Amino acid sequence: MDTKSVAQALAWARQQLESMDEAAIDADIILSHVMGQSRTWLKTWPEHILSKQQFSHYQESIERRKQGEPTAYIIGEKDFWSLTLKVTQDTLIPRPETELLVELALQRIPETSDYKVADLGTGSGAIALALAKERPQAIIWALDMSEGALTVAQANAEHNKIDNVSFGRGNWLDGWQHGQLDMIVSNPPYVAPNDPHLADLVYEPVTALVAEDNGLSDIYTITQQAIQYLKPNGFLLFEHGYDQGSAVREVLHKAGFTKVETVKDYAGQDRVTLGKR
Ligand SMILES: C[S@@+](CC[C@H](N)C(=O)[O-])C[C@H]1O[C@@H](n2cnc3c(N)ncnc32)[C@H](O)[C@@H]1O
Repeated sequence: MDTKSVAQALAWARQQLESMDEAAIDADIILSHVMGQSRTWLKTWPEHILSKQQFSHYQESIERRKQGEPTAYIIGEKDFWSLTLKVTQDTLIPRPETELLVELALQRIPETSDYKVADLGTGSGAIALALAKERPQAIIWALDMSEGALTVAQANAEHNKIDNVSFGRGNWLDGWQHGQLDMIVSNPPYVAPNDPHLADLVYEPVTALVAEDNGLSDIYTITQQAIQYLKPNGFLLFEHGYDQGSAVREVLHKAGFTKVETVKDYAGQDRVTLGKR
């Protein structure tokens, strides 16, 4: 094998990934992970020579990307809000649009109080940990039915030095015993079983993505539980699919929520619906 400089390795990877949308960014992110250096470092040292092991690790990683595996799974992490989160195949990769749910929740959580929040279906812990970091006085629960996801979420709390989140395993809020909540947030599975987009999501756990009843069954279950476990004037916030805004508003209205509204994401798509008990 010829030796390769940073610039040559990047040029090779971009060519390998040329049919993919974000070839240049992926090539950078993966090399920066392999080298244990920042992307700025790569730009500063284009003539630095990779060791044989580094280039061979890079080649394997680029091949995985070429086969369609998401970059976050290849490097084992994803940035979300102000956090770097570990992700594995037990967790959904946190999406940038989920930051809208975090923003809307933060607008309603007071800075100084023991406000009680549950994040249902926490996955990597993305939502719960972002809220906990911004509101260190809040008392936050991060719940999931997946043991694997909870292990990752707990590691993410430790790594980010966040200590106001408790973790629990269960089927949504079944058997909840920690008193009434001020807020419930959730990015539940909401993709319909026959949605053609699922074909593009084969690397992520199907239990994190798919729900019956056109993708609404978990939203319906959580809403019924929220009526039982939210304090009066407590908030329920859901992330959902771009075409589910009106259906989710109807679920919340029928359950008796007030001030129900849907907020669009930065791409102009319906993304979060919320209401007040
Ligand atoms: C769409 S993922 C969201 C992950 C994370 N909150 C995020 O926004 O990146 C949905 C999560 O719900 C969890 N889940 C699915 N069904 C569940 C259930 N019945 N009870 C609790 N959690 C469930 C999955 O394991 C998965 O982690």
